Amino acid sequence: MIKACLFDLDGVIVDTAKYHFIAWKQLAREMGFDFTEQDNERLKGVSRMASLDILLEIGGVTKTEQEKEELAHRKNEHYVSFITQMKPDEILPGAREFLLACKDAGLATALGSASKNAMTILNRLELNDLFDAIIDGTHTSKAKPDPEVFLKGAEALAADPENCVVFEDAEAGVEAALAAGMYCVGIGSSEVLNKAHLIIEGLHQMTLDQLENLQ
Ligand code: BG6
Ligand code: MG
Repeated sequence: MIKACLFDLDGVIVDTAKYHFIAWKQLAREMGFDFTEQDNERLKGVSRMASLDILLEIGGVTKTEQEKEELAHRKNEHYVSFITQMKPDEILPGAREFLLACKDAGLATALGSASKNAMTILNRLELNDLFDAIIDGTHTSKAKPDPEVFLKGAEALAADPENCVVFEDAEAGVEAALAAGMYCVGIGSSEVLNKAHLIIEGLHQMTLDQLENLQ
């Protein structure tokens, strides 16, 4: 029986991929190479430093650890300049409504995100109150597909993993949910998310009845 819903943020609640893309592209340009939208797909669900490693690999560039810290910091400054302007109308269709339906049905809710900027985004979207627990990149040391973020979320909600469902748009996130022993609803392409128990286009397609059918 599902008692708790855990939500990834980027790509599930809000489309921040476009802002990550502009910020990484600008950094690539500053280093003298191009970064395409197709390249950006590789960064979804991937932590900031791991994303930088992929970017540098694409550009064929090698940097020291200290230079990498500076580059990641610079990218984040670009990114933060966008997300601090976000408004609640950028919440993806159905996300707020489904969170409210969960609350009405007495289901516990948690955020499980790799992002260290999750609180800034939730504040801008005015969604904080709809989560009983928030686990983000500031609370975790192991990136998805490690299950740490979702196990910490379940613990914070006092829910057993077999009673939890995770909503994820990234392959690494689906793997993390399954490794945690949870159900998983994939949001996006069935080619990428085929290990999920159910795949939908967005939370606007999700109903509480579908949660019962997962089991
Ligand atoms: C994930 C995104 O949610 O968070 C990744 O899908 C991003 O693209 C990662 O790199 C880390 O985010 P941040 O905000 O800490 O740089
Ligand atoms: Mg995501």
